[in-house]
Amino acid sequence: METLANKIAIERAKSSKIHDVDFDNLSFGSVYSDHMLVCDYKDGEWSAPKVVPYQPITLDPSAKIFHYGQSIFEGMKAYKDENGKVWLFRPEENCKRLNKSAERLAIPQIPEAYFMEGLNALIQVESDWIPQNPGSSLYIRPFIFASGNGFHASPANEYKFIIACAPSGSYFSGKVKVLIEETYSRAANGGVGYAKAGGNYAGQFYPTKLAADKGYQQVIWTDDNTHEFIEEAGAMNVFVRINDTLMTAPTSDRILDGITRKSILDIAKDEGIKTEVRKISVHELVKAAENGSLKEMFGAGTAAVVSPISGFGYHGKDYDLPELEESYASLLKQRMTDIQYNRAEDKFGWRHEVI
Ligand code: PLP
Ligand code: COI
Repeated sequence: METLANKIAIERAKSSKIHDVDFDNLSFGSVYSDHMLVCDYKDGEWSAPKVVPYQPITLDPSAKIFHYGQSIFEGMKAYKDENGKVWLFRPEENCKRLNKSAERLAIPQIPEAYFMEGLNALIQVESDWIPQNPGSSLYIRPFIFASGNGFHASPANEYKFIIACAPSGSYFSGKVKVLIEETYSRAANGGVGYAKAGGNYAGQFYPTKLAADKGYQQVIWTDDNTHEFIEEAGAMNVFVRINDTLMTAPTSDRILDGITRKSILDIAKDEGIKTEVRKISVHELVKAAENGSLKEMFGAGTAAVVSPISGFGYHGKDYDLPELEESYASLLKQRMTDIQYNRAEDKFGWRHEVI
């Protein structure tokens, strides 16, 4: 990795908001730390990243983000261990995926050094904002959007790369009940489903609201062509355990290649759990629920961590999942979070110390 020629400039906030925050009752992503990283793209190049006080952004009404939706983001977390050391989990994977999303949305690539060194500098400045309460962390949101102006439907010539942070607790408050989608689609072949593009989420909100009105917290998207195969949920990849085999759908240009998903697959293999990455049909899922071989389902993602699914709805009928004493979900969550919070050996080399 190339490194930045100069140190990252830091402009400190005049006062801190940290004492207004109730760290014992954190929700997800709703209070923001004192600083953010900002980097502007203009005249064909990115300026050096700067850490500045968290603040509103002024944009022209003709900024292309508002009209053509050139906007991509990442989700990651900083963890603080018992000794106050700060850790990130596979951050280079987020950088790679941001640039994969950028390519698909015709957004300029962010140099890896700007992302990694900018992130390190910001997290050092914000280290007091990393909660140490169990299950809490500092959620980190890197994003890039078109700040350049114009009603012409073409890529902007100016962009902003920002990293903002929010001390956060769990994404879901309890077990998650999901609805298997039979009508709407999140993504299509050749589309932008594999990118972490803001518009992918906007397109989910209406079907998810219809599902929420019926009592489901998330939609499980199915393939857009037949709606016969499960793909992923709104904010996480999905795992299914039939008997003792753990399975998940293969990634494709319709599915986000989740960093938690691939970590869970590696940990499961390391635990000697039989894993299969293959198409999972709704028919197979319903049959397994009916004959009792469907033992568990769970979602996996940075925000969601590992979130057990209590049951699913399909074709007007609800299928409940059993409550297991020893679930794969709790074992895999424990092993992954032990690595993230530096409570266990990191045999995979995933932990990255912020110094
Ligand atoms: N799928 C979608 C649609 C997501 O928004 C997320 C969250 O980032 C994931 C899957 C899980 O990805 P990751 O584990 O990299 O956070
Ligand atoms: C994440 O898990 O980081 C995500 O980006 C999901 C988001 C929709 C909250």
